[in-house]
Amino acid sequence: MADDILKKIIAHSKEYGFIFQSSELYDGLSAVYDYGQYGTELKNNIKAYWWNAMVRLHENIVGIDSAIFMHPTIWKASGHVDAFNDPLIDNKDSKKRYRADVLIEEYREKLNQKIEKELSKARRKFGESFDEEQFRTTNPNVLRNQTKIDELNVRFVKALEDNNLSELKQIIIDSKIVCPISGTSNWSEVRQFNLMFETKLGATAEGASSIFLRPETAQGIFVNYLNVQKSGRMKIPFGIAQIGKAFRNEIVARQFVFRMREFEQMEMQFFVRPGTEMEWFEKWKANRETWHKALGLGDDAYRFHDHDKLAHYANAACDIEFNFPMGFKELEGIHSRTDFDLSQHQEFSGRKIQYFDPEINKSYVPYVVETSVGLDRTFLAILSKSYEEEQLEKETRIVLRIPPALAPIKVAVMPLVKKDGLPEIARNILKKLTLHHNCQFDEKDSIGKRYRRQDAIGTPFCITVDHQTKEDNMVTIRDRDSMKQERVSIDSLFSIVDEKVSMNTLLSKLM
Ligand code: GAP
Repeated sequence: MADDILKKIIAHSKEYGFIFQSSELYDGLSAVYDYGQYGTELKNNIKAYWWNAMVRLHENIVGIDSAIFMHPTIWKASGHVDAFNDPLIDNKDSKKRYRADVLIEEYREKLNQKIEKELSKARRKFGESFDEEQFRTTNPNVLRNQTKIDELNVRFVKALEDNNLSELKQIIIDSKIVCPISGTSNWSEVRQFNLMFETKLGATAEGASSIFLRPETAQGIFVNYLNVQKSGRMKIPFGIAQIGKAFRNEIVARQFVFRMREFEQMEMQFFVRPGTEMEWFEKWKANRETWHKALGLGDDAYRFHDHDKLAHYANAACDIEFNFPMGFKELEGIHSRTDFDLSQHQEFSGRKIQYFDPEINKSYVPYVVETSVGLDRTFLAILSKSYEEEQLEKETRIVLRIPPALAPIKVAVMPLVKKDGLPEIARNILKKLTLHHNCQFDEKDSIGKRYRRQDAIGTPFCITVDHQTKEDNMVTIRDRDSMKQERVSIDSLFSIVDEKVSMNTLLSKLM
């Protein structure tokens, strides 16, 4: 079922110019994707929503655009050379490779789903009088699965903390986790695998030095902390935001744009006084939750998940998970990274990275709270919740209910027929609207077919110019979601459209 939905979204993305497999002409490159004409518009709108929410709406956040290539020592200092590894396991029968931690997490999620199923069954049966707390502590099936989850959690967290690879394998064996392809538990040992891509900088083989494609954009912010703080005369607390590409040699690269080898991140590092980081961590959790929920994809599509194992640099970390077609999975990470990164760069570069805080008359290395959201995952979240096959009286229509401010095309302007001066009137309307919003002129095929085409790419409004328009200066405006059609004056079009589709309408929900 989940697979079906994902397959439909992949097919729809290709058919309507949202996402194509990279290098498709040459049979494709695995886990790399190209964004098509509508996908690029949607992606740019998501970026604009994030950028404006961070940089425009916060006086104390500025944005940068750092290079992808960076000095190789940066990745030594950040810990990526030594510790940016995934624990991998092979199934000897299917020859498929998996992340050991993901196999365990997926098994735990299945147990969770079993509990949820029992709960919703009971909720339906008992209605208003249902006491969830009592049910959880007395129902034998729920208790059995909860015990399994609790015992699993204790072993899993310890194995991750101790970096105990043989224990990870043992958990997989003991939990009877099998390969989804071969169905067997004929597993190899668990091994660590570094995810960074390496390349050469320099013209000749002898003179060339190894550098890495950045696996996160965050380090570009850390190494520019001093530049931005000084040139912008920034006072703590303040943030630096950045949107950009990141590269990871993901071994288990599946599920469309959820896990890619080349992807985009939208990251913000917020520099704070040591000791205040937990307060800021909570504030940023709430802020980011509001940002996601303002999109209107449904509040119950999101949940927080605290990390099982804190990275060596973090003193708090949680994910915002989204209910993707394949279940709840990480969409964004919010991490309290202490002074780890700046201290490491201070040590490795030999340059002093300190902030003199006039309020307490003291110098210190700032602490950092980071918000890091995947652009491609946000794209997938929006696309998968927007996609609907709606049953109408005589047919089914595919409609993308994309949040209007993010829709690739905001308005399609259509002359009813290609003659009698109607295209000219339509083009005049287009000219006025197009200065403010991305619009399309569409005069091919019947009006019905044109509506379906626009529904399929998520266009919030269609405006039709007919013969009557010549007499009364009125047009028909059709709403994507309700399919309601209304006759309105050409003069009122701008305000009707703008109120619904402008980025400011969306941003105002955050204020
Ligand atoms: N600077 C912190 C950092 O990079 P992360 O949890 O590894 O943290 C942050 O990544 C976000 O980047 C994730 O929540 C996810 O949305 C996105 N992301 C990470 N790996 C990805 C991949 N292979 N494909 C697509 N998005 C990815």
